[in-house]
Amino acid sequence: MKTYNIGVIGGDGIGPDVVAEGLKVLRAVKDGGFDCNFVEYPYSGAYYLKTKELVPDRVIEEWRGLDAVLLGAIGHPDVEVGLVERSVILGLRFGLDLYINLRPIKLYAEALCPIKGKGPDDIDFTVIRENTEGEYTQIGGILKKGTADEVATSTSIYTRVGVERATRYGFELARARAVQSNRPGHLTMVDKANAIRPQEIWTRTFAEVGKEYPDIKQDHAYVDAFTMLMIQQPERYDTVVTTNLYGDIITDLGSTLQGGIGLAASGNLHPGKASMFEPIHGSAPDIAGQNVACPLGAIMAVSMMMDYLGEKTAAKRIEDSVAFLLSSGQIKSADARSGIGTTQMGDMVVEQIQLSAG
Ligand code: IPM
Ligand code: MG
Repeated sequence: MKTYNIGVIGGDGIGPDVVAEGLKVLRAVKDGGFDCNFVEYPYSGAYYLKTKELVPDRVIEEWRGLDAVLLGAIGHPDVEVGLVERSVILGLRFGLDLYINLRPIKLYAEALCPIKGKGPDDIDFTVIRENTEGEYTQIGGILKKGTADEVATSTSIYTRVGVERATRYGFELARARAVQSNRPGHLTMVDKANAIRPQEIWTRTFAEVGKEYPDIKQDHAYVDAFTMLMIQQPERYDTVVTTNLYGDIITDLGSTLQGGIGLAASGNLHPGKASMFEPIHGSAPDIAGQNVACPLGAIMAVSMMMDYLGEKTAAKRIEDSVAFLLSSGQIKSADARSGIGTTQMGDMVVEQIQLSAG
């Protein structure tokens, strides 16, 4: 039987609460088909406060040898802003060269959508966020800090290799989605090359790689217009590729289209290699440990992880069960207002998986 080695980082705040439910669902779905060996890692803001330890290089090396990593959330109010996030989240993304951040935006029930008149047929697109370049490379700093002469710089990096591999992944995904949905393929590239001219590398690469994909409809939007259009006419979009920062921003906005950040999941991928899966929400320390956080983002991250590992049936059983609980109204919202506790919601997904198997 195939055994997957999966690193588990609960992290801070509600991270451990929701990861526990993700693992519960994973245990329910694996019956007989495959096995998992979980390796837990303590890295988090809370752990840093206790030990002053961030992620050491040898652990990054160890992660490269796993099949996948499941992450809850990182962020602690008493730790310097961004310190542990950079060590753990960006440590994984950069250390494992996870150059694709895949963020599906899919509405499972009309009642979850805050936009009048939009239903599941209108909201089903996937954002590919380039994940190792752009504004996130940490190139820059502050000179003469706190003085009248203070200077702050932050350099955005776009390499041909980085832009091309993200773009190519976008075209391939658009093609795969077209086959699956029996609709024409469509890839939209989002940038801000009118104001930030070096982003013209995105425009040019998109056009060049696009010649290899004549079957895919190709268009472009500036990120400011895109934020407006994805709310007004989300049905226009199918597959979207964009820079690291724009992808960060538009997927938080996108998560509200599908019912809230509590539901949104992501895969940080290096196709063919160890990859990392996480809900896109943060650590929400104010509601940690109270059994109120919505675990659906983490559960859907587990579904994405199993899909990535090739366990398509397990992945689909999880997704279908979550979709059913939402569309049938058994789960009415993806936040604390659902009135359903974290562990109860995990149990409901497990039960639904068992029902659908029987
Ligand atoms: C995300 C988060 C991270 C990011 C933060 C926590 C560093 O917002 O995964 O979207 O900016 O990428
Ligand atoms: Mg974000």
